[in-house]
Amino acid sequence: MPHAQSKTVESLSPKTTLTPCILDDDPAQLSQLQALIGDMGYDAIATSDPDEALQLVRVGRCRMLLADMHIPGADGYEFLDRVLRCDPGVHVLVMTAEYTLESALEAIRRGAADFLPKPIDRIRLKRTLDDTAALYDQRRRVKALEEQLLRDLEFHGIVGKSPAMLEVFDFARKVARHYSNVLLIGPTGTGKELVARAIHQISPVSQQRLAVCNCSAMVDSLLESQLFGHMRGSFTGATDTRPGLFEYANGGTVFLDEVGETSLPMQAKLLRVIQNREIQRVGSPQVMQVNVRLIAATNRDLRAEVLAGRFREDLFYRLSSIQIRIPSLAERLEDVPLLVQFFLKKYNDAYGKNIAGLTRRAQTVLLQHGWAGNVRELENVISSASITAMGDFIDLADLPEHFQRRGGAHGGADDEWRPLSLEDVRKVHIQRVLDMCQGNRLRAAQILGIGRTSLYRYLKRDADVPPMHAQHKYRGRSGSAVA
Ligand SMILES: Nc1ncnc2c1ncn2[C@@H]1O[C@H](COP(=O)(O)OP(=O)(O)O)[C@@H](O)[C@H]1O
Ligand SMILES: [Mg+2]
Repeated sequence: MPHAQSKTVESLSPKTTLTPCILDDDPAQLSQLQALIGDMGYDAIATSDPDEALQLVRVGRCRMLLADMHIPGADGYEFLDRVLRCDPGVHVLVMTAEYTLESALEAIRRGAADFLPKPIDRIRLKRTLDDTAALYDQRRRVKALEEQLLRDLEFHGIVGKSPAMLEVFDFARKVARHYSNVLLIGPTGTGKELVARAIHQISPVSQQRLAVCNCSAMVDSLLESQLFGHMRGSFTGATDTRPGLFEYANGGTVFLDEVGETSLPMQAKLLRVIQNREIQRVGSPQVMQVNVRLIAATNRDLRAEVLAGRFREDLFYRLSSIQIRIPSLAERLEDVPLLVQFFLKKYNDAYGKNIAGLTRRAQTVLLQHGWAGNVRELENVISSASITAMGDFIDLADLPEHFQRRGGAHGGADDEWRPLSLEDVRKVHIQRVLDMCQGNRLRAAQILGIGRTSLYRYLKRDADVPPMHAQHKYRGRSGSAVA
């Protein structure tokens, strides 16, 4: 498969995929330029309708636009802005008969790739087309390499290239051979179940069964019979004798998801399995030996649960002799593009689509989001955007509404734009990142891109600020306050 793909990429001529769009209100000039560009080996689309040109860019059909600046009913610069907002990666060549240095510079300052005075100099036009085609060709090859990289960076269906995730993969690989109990810790949606499955797959018992039980989904009595089985007539509705998951997975692995949600009596029963590897079916006096590896997962801080008296200390120590912490997505934003690529492929296949990627502004918005729901949230966003996207690219409009609001970086009413001073923006931002990292300053400093000592300095300075500053609360439209 990799070969087939890279071959297609290689065999596509850059000239056939560049597809310049020419926008000019003069039909004679339009067809003349189209013919000229055709002679240079490029298939150009000609139009005198700015909206059509915009649409061609939006759907990714044209990667280059040659636009006459004097379009009736449209301000040339404003049109340029609109095109670049649509896809900041498109190459816009601005053409006009009235060349002045200032207008050329203004167009380039606003993001045009180049300025071509009319009448068009053929040699210069050809060179520009060839250079741009070569650039897109290079981008395409990079994309093929990225796809290869995605395959290489996949660890048993888990995608990640951030140092934090590579460490998770590395550790999982090491413990898989030897563990009898592993505890996976991390917020919901970070991929704990995937890691559990991966550990089972690379463990020596991979040929045996893996039983998965979500401990938060059931009342105690049901959970007990699920895990340990029951005898006929042992409770109302027990019409037959059934083995539990520990028996079912004997010789293999049991994955106890959300173990932090179990009751204290249930914890006592789990401790018995871990300590003695023995179980009893509900209603049976017989004690059975089971030989299972146990992987437990929780999104709670179990140590705090122990202190609060909600979790048995002895069980906590038994479970947590080997711990793997799966970081939140916000702590590894560098994984976002890779995950997006992975989910796009998954949902392209599922929905029979051929979406090539995200527009730059959609990418930017994803990188600014808070991702409270972690990878699960990202997967949902890409899955629903894959359904709604009409063109080759997912754009802002395909993302959930709160992504589209100005400054809606984290979603929610707190993100309403407010006229803050730079000093206050810095302060609010640092506090948010710290909250996100649950007070871990080293991690916060990494995300903020500053040294730990600089972070301490800022925090100290903020703490020293007179009370008037601290009392200054900013209210969004909903009235919620952000200090
Ligand atoms: N690193 C990853 N690569 C690919 N898919 C992931 C990754 N992390 C999570 N997912 C996907 O996100 C969803 C939530 O993952 P899951 O393992 O159930 O999270 P958790 O158990 O921590 O709540 C699943 O659909 C899973 O396939
Ligand atoms: Mg889970």
